[in-house]
Amino acid sequence: MKTALIIGSSGTIGSAVFRAFKDAGYETEGVSRSTSPGMDIDQPDSVRQFMADAKNYEAIVCAAGNASFGALDKLKEEDFRLSFNSKLAGQIRIVQYGLQHLNKNGTILLTGGMFAFDPWPETSVLAAVNAGLEGFVRAIAKEVTDGRKVRIIHPPLVAETAKMIGTDPSPWPDAAIVAGAYLNGVENGEGEAILYVNGYTPKAPETY
Ligand SMILES: NC(=O)c1ccc[n+]([C@@H]2O[C@H](COP(=O)([O-])OP(=O)(O)OC[C@H]3O[C@@H](n4cnc5c(N)ncnc54)[C@H](OP(=O)(O)O)[C@@H]3O)[C@@H](O)[C@H]2O)c1
Repeated sequence: MKTALIIGSSGTIGSAVFRAFKDAGYETEGVSRSTSPGMDIDQPDSVRQFMADAKNYEAIVCAAGNASFGALDKLKEEDFRLSFNSKLAGQIRIVQYGLQHLNKNGTILLTGGMFAFDPWPETSVLAAVNAGLEGFVRAIAKEVTDGRKVRIIHPPLVAETAKMIGTDPSPWPDAAIVAGAYLNGVENGEGEAILYVNGYTPKAPETY
């Protein structure tokens, strides 16, 4: 049976991703800070320890990682540290330690977000994190071996989160739709390392 590790499996996106992989027939393991064993991606030792005891997986999916919203003139050094240590370095750590437990032809799928290519006001640091992850994924592709893949998906705002923050959810896909894109991102073996949810893609860049 194919095996999948879902990091952040109790979250809005992660719980839908967990269900999508389970429904697709994967033996699916969920982990976060509050599971046992747990993993805190902000802590290098925690990621290393979890992975040292882990089995091997066809898919390692991360739907966890914190980063700060806010106007740049209001953000503090602590907000930068949190953002770069959690969502950016945390997911790099998952690749660093997770690759040793990824089967040949397996996929590690990281989570960015649409602010990488379609930012809103007060998302500058989050946009930097998401775009930084994209650069990491492009570069690490040059180092992985035996058909292993490291990809990133940039989800749009999901409807459940839009509701939670009090904005109109109707323009946005449900977490279940987004989770389907994560599953496709793992199962479609060839192609791009940078993935989007259908209908929520960047506009073609202008050229000069
Ligand atoms: N929701 C959206 O609309 C949306 C859109 C685009 C991108 N994203 C990105 O998608 C990711 C997940 O978002 P979400 O809205 O689904 O988040 P969420 O509902 O807050 O869930 C986060 C999940 O990650 C776990 N987690 C949090 N910090 C962690 C840590 N340091 N180490 C390990 N696990 C941790 C949480 O469980 P514990 O508390 O038990 O650790 C939970 O399972 C984030 O990176 C977010 O930026 C979200």
